[in-house]
Amino acid sequence: MNAPVQINPDLFSDEILSEPNPFYSETIPHSPVVYVPSRQLYAVLSYDLVVQVADDHINFSSQFGELLKGLGATDPEIMAVLSEGWPLTDSLISNDPPLHGRFRRLVSRAFTMPRVAAMEAEIRNTARELVDAIERRGACDFVTNFAIPLPILVISRLLGSGEVPVQTVKEWSDAFVHLFGGKASRDVQLASAHLIVAFQRHFIGKIAERRADRTIEDIIASLVHARTEDDEPLSDAEILSVIQALLIAGNETTTSTLAEGMKLFIEHPQQVEKVLRNPKLFGDMVEEILRLTSPAAGLWRIAANDTQLGEVAIPKGALLNLRFAAANRDPGHFPDPNKFDVERPNARTHLAFGRGIHMCIGNMLARKELVIGFEELLTRLTDFRITDRAALNYPPNMVTRGLSALPISFRRQLERADAL
Ligand code: HEM
Repeated sequence: MNAPVQINPDLFSDEILSEPNPFYSETIPHSPVVYVPSRQLYAVLSYDLVVQVADDHINFSSQFGELLKGLGATDPEIMAVLSEGWPLTDSLISNDPPLHGRFRRLVSRAFTMPRVAAMEAEIRNTARELVDAIERRGACDFVTNFAIPLPILVISRLLGSGEVPVQTVKEWSDAFVHLFGGKASRDVQLASAHLIVAFQRHFIGKIAERRADRTIEDIIASLVHARTEDDEPLSDAEILSVIQALLIAGNETTTSTLAEGMKLFIEHPQQVEKVLRNPKLFGDMVEEILRLTSPAAGLWRIAANDTQLGEVAIPKGALLNLRFAAANRDPGHFPDPNKFDVERPNARTHLAFGRGIHMCIGNMLARKELVIGFEELLTRLTDFRITDRAALNYPPNMVTRGLSALPISFRRQLERADAL
């Protein structure tokens, strides 16, 4: 049995978190799992080992809720702010069976396929309105004007919270990401704690409305009226936890994938031409963009037993970061992993949505938003260019990765047709 491989560069340094892809494809072939001494954790990198861990919830627990609280678990001022709200309860992502299954069954019922399918027309209208708003301007920050509002407007409608401004929902969602991301300053974490309490107060109001009025039908109403196997209703903190899971998991990730997709279109126009000539490729292209983006870059696990990953012994209690983003660049599974190829035969085997019992519950919705969003953009606009490369920045975060801005210019498809 070999000792764990030590790495010199901190995988979680700002430099590598911002630009990790060369590191992944170079490291995986000789070190599929690495120990990061500065963080006292194992980073699981290769496709096969990420699959092994994600499929094995017995040996690799998801009860990492305490970690998610960041300084909220130790800093007295931040703890005091959070104590004005409702406890940050574990529901889905940071829970194990049997409790995880109890929540998962309820949310799956609330998140039925017909409900997602019914969103299709609304997603298309929302995407059209966003393109309407930018098409004559010829330039915009794609992140602010398209990638952020599309998923926020969709999830806000699903949660019956359409009246809240996009900017407010974005601040709430960012607050959780800052508290959980392991990289934000204390000031940012303190501000995030205030925002989290504001988020909780807003949704407690929504929960109360639905308790009082049984005619309201949306996901929150389904959660309020749901009964578990032992006929117990969910508590307010439990419902808030599910809403929080849907809100954060659904926003940041879809925003990052839309933005990275646009950057890939600009860098690889010949791939876009291929898809426009054969629109059946839209779905495959989205899978390839998800593979290359992997916005949920790394999630946590805790070893529940002494166990083994490849040649590395993992002691009980060890903290692991499951790098979905690295697995998706494993040259052993995806040849030429850094290439954008809309016809990659095995793109659909990517792990951007995870796998196993925690596999993303919103994956069908996210895929719909991505296909529809890209269809609207690519069929109505053309000649996309980046106008300020210096503005491109991936804020370092141990869990998520995505562009914070993408200033672009473009023309309307009609103008291109006229010019030809
Ligand atoms: C491109 C978009 C998305 C990506 C890449 C993504 C990625 C992921 C990943 C990797 C996991 C598994 C975490 C783990 O194994 O620890 C996950 C879980 C989850 N996702 Fe997503 N997600 C996306 C969109 C969404 C959307 C739109 C929603 C809902 C509106 C959503 C809700 C959830 C929830 C609730 C979980 C926890 C499931 C569980 O623990 O059983 N996600 N997501």
